[in-house]
Amino acid sequence: MPDGGAQAWYEAVCGVATCRGRSVVGVAHGPNSMCGMTYVIAQPCVDLKDKACIDECPVDCIYEGERSLYIHPDECVDCGACEPVCPVEAIYYEDDVPEEWAEYYKANVEFFDDLGSPGGAAKMGLIAKDHPLIKALPPQSHDE
Ligand code: F3S
Ligand code: F3S
Repeated sequence: MPDGGAQAWYEAVCGVATCRGRSVVGVAHGPNSMCGMTYVIAQPCVDLKDKACIDECPVDCIYEGERSLYIHPDECVDCGACEPVCPVEAIYYEDDVPEEWAEYYKANVEFFDDLGSPGGAAKMGLIAKDHPLIKALPPQSHDE
């Protein structure tokens, strides 16, 4: 991540000094995207938490819950770097989340309802909770 965190990244990639990611929904900027979009972590991550995605994220916006990781919808700059490195294909562009996991968009968003925008996952470490959708799941096996 560049010095200055997510805000510096927004400005560097977008050239839009006022860019705040999701807060400018509908304004097209950034290398690949509308900054109002985001990536989502779905069910394959649950009880696996490979964490390869964390190393790729330029803005440190992938947060760790007890059973899954969650992408912060406002901090994600939609760079796409995390998606191909997940060994179980748990990460999807918001519009491409498979129907069976559609609710994971909400889970990623609502996970942050009481956390706000911490501005970096590393300093938060393991957050001792999960979204109710994930919490209610039976243990997931990953023996493939
Ligand atoms: Fe989970 Fe895949 Fe990241 S398993 S922690 S989304 S690399
Ligand atoms: Fe977002 Fe993944 Fe990039 S979480 S900022 S698309 S590495």
